[in-house]
Order: sequence, then C-alpha cells, then structure tokens
Amino acid sequence: MDKSVEKLLAAARECRERAFAPYSGFKVGAAVETEDGTIFAGCNVESASYGLTMCAERVAIFTAVAAGRKRIKRISVVAESDELTAPCGACRQVIWEFGGDIPVLIVNTNGESVERQMSELLPMAFDSSFLK
Ligand code: THU
Repeated sequence: MDKSVEKLLAAARECRERAFAPYSGFKVGAAVETEDGTIFAGCNVESASYGLTMCAERVAIFTAVAAGRKRIKRISVVAESDELTAPCGACRQVIWEFGGDIPVLIVNTNGESVERQMSELLPMAFDSSFLK
C-alpha cells in the first residue's frame, strides 16, 4: 500500500479511539488528505440529544476547512463492523462539496477494505455548478 494511504488509515484508526459514542457504542474514525498532502482526522461525536450527533467524516472535513484547506484528495473511514461501513448520505454530500469524485477507502477493524469512487456513492450529485 502507498505510504500516504497508510498514513491516512493510521490517522483514521487513531482518531477512532477518541470517538465519543456512548449512545450507539459505534466508534468511527475518518481521515482526509488535502491537496497539499496534509492529513486531518475526525471521529464521531454523539449527543444525549441524539440528532445533534456529528459523523467522523464531517468532523475530519470540517477540521481541514477550519485549518484553511478546502480541497480533499481522498478520504478513509474506519469502523468496527463485519460489513464495511460506507459514509451516510449527509456525509456523502459534504465529501462531494470539498472533494468531488474522489476515492473513498472504507475499512473495518479486521483490516478488510474496499475502495469506491464518490460518483458511485453519490450519482447525479447536486453541487455548486447548479447554482450558476
Ligand atoms: N457514523 C459515522 O460517524 N460515520 C458513518 O459513516 C456512519 C455513522 C456514526 C454516527 C453515530 O455516532 C454512529 O456512527 C451510529 O450511527
């Protein structure tokens, strides 16, 4: 595996350990690589008011944006599930906003993985090009 992909996965795995998921018990980690090669990680953060929960993918992306990086080249998501956990619909829209048709590396804690392009996960995506 390519060194930068290994770093991306390691960042997602490490951040997953810091997930705040006392309600679902389902810890997720994510990491994005920005255009300049910097990696930003995120974990899911839940709330007793369940609907306020934020997914790991969006935490990673919003952290990158807050650090001044608006374009992402790839994203990895790590969760503990036999079935590989693909990003939720809301996260797919946000990934598209900042990455467009990028690869998404989906991994579980057994080390199984699958890679999908965003255009497969979010066909006919709505984005800023419709607003011009
Ligand atoms: N979750 C993520 O963080 N990312 C996903 O791709 C799927 C779901 C979180 C949200 C919630 O804290 C928990 O997993 C169960 O839905």
